[in-house]
Amino acid sequence: MTLVRFYKADGTLDREVEAKPGQRLLDVAWKAKQPLEGACEGVMACSTCHVIVDKADFEKLPPASDEEEDMLDFAAHATRTSRLACQIFLTEEMKSLDVRIPPSARNWLRG
Ligand code: FES
Repeated sequence: MTLVRFYKADGTLDREVEAKPGQRLLDVAWKAKQPLEGACEGVMACSTCHVIVDKADFEKLPPASDEEEDMLDFAAHATRTSRLACQIFLTEEMKSLDVRIPPSARNWLRG
């Protein structure tokens, strides 16, 4: 199990939930009632699932694909440790994962 901590945009802890290996971070976030729209449901066409990953956790994740990097270039409030929650799958090795929800999102599906 992975202990996933969701932080608000101001850095305060919002929710702490346990999730199973193989679960997609976007689904975990939805279940934890986080404000991530995920408008394209994971096909990397919207950037509304953008999260800012804790630096130490970010380094443990498999690298983003070129398609994910391209979409992150258009995400609002993107940082060096930004990822798309629809592209992160929890693994047995991830004991915890800290992510922050950005202050706002940009939906490229709506243009
Ligand atoms: Fe649209 Fe992740 S849900 S890019």
